[in-house]
Amino acid sequence: MKGSSGEARAEAFANIALAKYWGKADVPLNLPAVPSISITLDPLRTETHVRFDPDLERDGFELDQVSAEEGERRRVEALLDQVRAEAGMTERARVVSRNHFPTAAGLASSASGFAALAAAARAAAGLDWDTKRISSLARQASASAARSVFGGFVELPAGEPGDADLAARPLFAEQHWDLCVVVAVTAEARKPVGSTRGMNHTRNTSPYYRPWVDAAPALAERVRAGVAHRDLPSLGAAMEQSTLAMHACAMAADPGILYWQPATLSAIHALRAAREQDGLQAWLTVDAGPHVKALCAESDVDHVKTLLDGTEGVLRTLVCRPGSGVKLV
Ligand code: DP6
Repeated sequence: MKGSSGEARAEAFANIALAKYWGKADVPLNLPAVPSISITLDPLRTETHVRFDPDLERDGFELDQVSAEEGERRRVEALLDQVRAEAGMTERARVVSRNHFPTAAGLASSASGFAALAAAARAAAGLDWDTKRISSLARQASASAARSVFGGFVELPAGEPGDADLAARPLFAEQHWDLCVVVAVTAEARKPVGSTRGMNHTRNTSPYYRPWVDAAPALAERVRAGVAHRDLPSLGAAMEQSTLAMHACAMAADPGILYWQPATLSAIHALRAAREQDGLQAWLTVDAGPHVKALCAESDVDHVKTLLDGTEGVLRTLVCRPGSGVKLV
């Protein structure tokens, strides 16, 4: 069954993990080895258009007006293959995606991209799926994308072996808590080691991988409780520990993976010093890249932004707030 038009457009926001996902329980099914919890981030938005076309010989994928490299195209094709199999279709598709991030923010996100793609592809194929199924489809392409299907505060549980339907679930809507995330952009270049490769290499070679997997559920539980009670200091402490544990685990791989740049460390120290000396209520997190994200209350945004803007090596900052889930546009 195919939708009458065979095309659809969807948009989704990126997200930042408060409790980190790092490592897979099942590589072919792309199941995370640990639970993760995120905030969906407005305004980091990706818009994706999918059009199935009987005249196409293969799937095409264009991102920000540039044809994607073969590896990226194949990831898109793999997601489309699943949609085609479910819908009983054979048509190839043209996928056009745009990141509506501030120019050259260096924050390109597979999470918003695959969430928008999953939603647009299922609609273009005329499949009547709920958000849980869309999240599961997005998860198979990129696990963090499963979380961007939902707005606000979102959890992706760890996968049980063979659980092909694993999906993220919303914990609290975006109105639950008016938290802010100040993103400190520290580099323009693409990260040298992608998340998928980085976490598989960590699993295969880091002596700290098992301890990380063992520790992560308790960290996620502390993050979940902090979000539920709107308790920023306890959420912040658990988030920082999750971040540092994930990076320590990756750094201990062989050879070690080091996503941080000098500016990453400068921003971390600036934020921690302001917290310890001036009582600034802000906590940090860093994904598989060099940028630092600071979590704070609305009332502290100006202070945090000024601090990070004045930190050596920080190129610019960007203020995000809890965003909504994926939608057709
Ligand atoms: C550090 O979701 O990009 O951002 O499932 O292999 O595509 P794949 O990985 P991805 O990894 C995200 C890792 C992280 C932490 C997080 O978002 O939870």
